[in-house]
Amino acid sequence: MSNSAANSAMIEIESSKPAGNGMVVPGLSPLSETLWRVKTNTELIGDVSARLTWKDLTVMVTLSNGETQNILEGLIGYAEPGSLTALMGPSGSGKSTLLDALSGRLASNSFQSGTILINGRKTKLSFGTAAYVTQDDNLIGTLTVRETISYSARLRLPDKMPRSEKRALIESTITAMGLQDCADTVIGNWHLRGISGGEKRRVSIAMEILMRPRLLFLDEPTSGLDSASAFFVTQTLRALARDGRTVIASIHQPSSEVFELFDQLYLLSGGKTVYFGQASEAYEFFAQAGFPCPALRNPSDHFLRCINSDFDKVKATLKGSMKLRFESTDDPLEKMTTTEATRALIDFYRTSQHCYAAREKVEEISKVRGTVLDSGGSQASFLMQALTLTKRSLINMSRDFGYYWLRLVIYIVVTVCIGTIYFNVGTSYNAILARGSCASFVFGFVTFMSIGGFPSFVEDMKVFQRERLNGHYGVTAFVISNTLSAMPFLILITFLSGTICYFMVRLHPGFEHYIFFVLCLYASVTVVESLMMVIASIIPNFLMGIIIGAGIQGIFMLVSGYFRLPHDIPKPFWRYPMSYISFHFWALQGQYQNDLEGLLFDNQTPGIFKIPGEYILENVFQITVTRSKWIDLSVLFSMIIIYRIIFFIMIKINEDVTPWVRGYMARRRMQQKNGSQNTTIAPDGLTQSPSLRAYVGGPQCSLQHDNHLSHHDQSHGK
Ligand SMILES: Nc1ncnc2c1ncn2[C@@H]1O[C@H](COP(=O)(O)OP(=O)(O)OP(=O)(O)O)[C@@H](O)[C@H]1O
Ligand SMILES: [Mg+2]
Repeated sequence: MSNSAANSAMIEIESSKPAGNGMVVPGLSPLSETLWRVKTNTELIGDVSARLTWKDLTVMVTLSNGETQNILEGLIGYAEPGSLTALMGPSGSGKSTLLDALSGRLASNSFQSGTILINGRKTKLSFGTAAYVTQDDNLIGTLTVRETISYSARLRLPDKMPRSEKRALIESTITAMGLQDCADTVIGNWHLRGISGGEKRRVSIAMEILMRPRLLFLDEPTSGLDSASAFFVTQTLRALARDGRTVIASIHQPSSEVFELFDQLYLLSGGKTVYFGQASEAYEFFAQAGFPCPALRNPSDHFLRCINSDFDKVKATLKGSMKLRFESTDDPLEKMTTTEATRALIDFYRTSQHCYAAREKVEEISKVRGTVLDSGGSQASFLMQALTLTKRSLINMSRDFGYYWLRLVIYIVVTVCIGTIYFNVGTSYNAILARGSCASFVFGFVTFMSIGGFPSFVEDMKVFQRERLNGHYGVTAFVISNTLSAMPFLILITFLSGTICYFMVRLHPGFEHYIFFVLCLYASVTVVESLMMVIASIIPNFLMGIIIGAGIQGIFMLVSGYFRLPHDIPKPFWRYPMSYISFHFWALQGQYQNDLEGLLFDNQTPGIFKIPGEYILENVFQITVTRSKWIDLSVLFSMIIIYRIIFFIMIKINEDVTPWVRGYMARRRMQQKNGSQNTTIAPDGLTQSPSLRAYVGGPQCSLQHDNHLSHHDQSHGK
């Protein structure tokens, strides 16, 4: 039954197949044609296609011990508009690496050599030229599916496009990915159960196909889906390909219905090509190579069985328990190990006509110099991007209890505690120190509690990285929106808790003194937030980030002028420049003046003359009274701006400089290790592609390559 469904779908798709081979003008759907018109503004609507070729593509990684390893070896292949290329192979065969290499996102410890051409030209593919749906889904958990997709649409669709058209596009994408039923369900996060894993996968795909990219890479789009939804997702991809797009997807164990939807098949094993050609001819290729698919076995299962060395272990286990059944088959795989079979297949492919045809085709395609693909990505204006991002972020913050609401509660509880402990502090002799320690506590520890927001920042950064690499918006729009959206919450938190503290303790009376105190608290908390954002952009791991953030603030607190009086702080380093870098120092200088100036305090023995606040400021707290407290406050506000600029610069450095530095180090290490030893790659052929993959993947990446060493002698089934 399912087979006939597949057939009818095939016929349906086939009928919409563009005429001619290569030129895809009639293939564009009316909607995407509008999109391209708006974008290109030229008559060249026919040549928006992307012909991708890769030749002698080798990817090598350096491991932590300086060893190098080839992950991909001399791959050759092409992908054309109008066709869906499926990348198949056992786990660890290099599928993701190939996609990363093609999309210019290799991890920073890897080097590629060989040529990758788009329309006959070398093009940098990052930031939106190609869309890439990665293996993991980084989505905002508090938004519903429809919201996620519509914000994504608003971020990228041209401003001029009418709302109704945008809505139609969003709805059609939701339907195409089969998400109608969960369109109004939230995605879900750690405390919110949301849509299923397979649905998340489809949302990630939906966001990328929304813009109908010319070149689309997908890493395991069907993992976690049942065979029916896998079929529909693949069918959507195929329809997209038929629309004149170039689609390359890696796929694990496709069902036979899904397999029939593939145009080209790229079979990889251990980084080498086992087969590249028409998916429909693979069956015959395996038969010719001496590994015919037994009856009653799904061909794609058979292909993977032949090249997955883990099957040797499976076979050994099965043989022990089901001896008879195995002896009776005439499967050629019974007579040799899969390692031998794989080697035989790789050798057979090298001399087959498929390999020759591929080579010829690559030569032919790369000779044609087509149009340069522009940077792709967002077509929305900067203002639209910043507005949409701010709105999205505001919604996320207001829905996520852990982002600010919980902090609001804690802040109120802590300030009520402060209020009761320092209740009505007065102007007695003892109140002098009490006022000092109260201010120091508020600006030291209360602001310190803001590092609790760090895990949320890390989540935000992950989403940002994914969207940034796919060119959804720019860094400036992100930094601005991030600053703006946090503002109302921080104002609410600091004004509420500041007011409670001010009136319970009865700090220096007067509106001006009240507003100074609250503004100072607001500025300090915002500085902490900005500092933590900077840390999140460098170390996207919440445990390490919190530890480092706490350490930095601890040091700042030490030089704030309370724990050691300003004049006593050792001059080199600690006083200059550290105390001036510390925001606590400025906050305390300002707040002490704000609180003590103009007050008269009792002396040690009541009855004798009273002590003026100015005297205490100068002689007890060692505050520079000649400087206005408002200057201290403006320093705090400028620190916010400085930290935000640092945040911006750090993202830029992460994007452009870090990969270079890491690549350089890895290369050096590799050269030291190898000495004069010859590698398969000429050193000058090495190119390093800037990427954020290591950054996004973070700790997993290093784990992965540690695993790699033991990969072959450990049994791991996947
Ligand atoms: N940056 C790297 N450093 C070290 N080893 C790496 C690196 N990138 C990939 N590898 C190793 O290269 C091999 C291929 O990895 P890749 O992620 O491409 O496999 P895959 O085919 O996508 O597997 P899966 O189906 O499990 O996703 C793995 O053994 C992996 O450990
Ligand atoms: Mg993978």
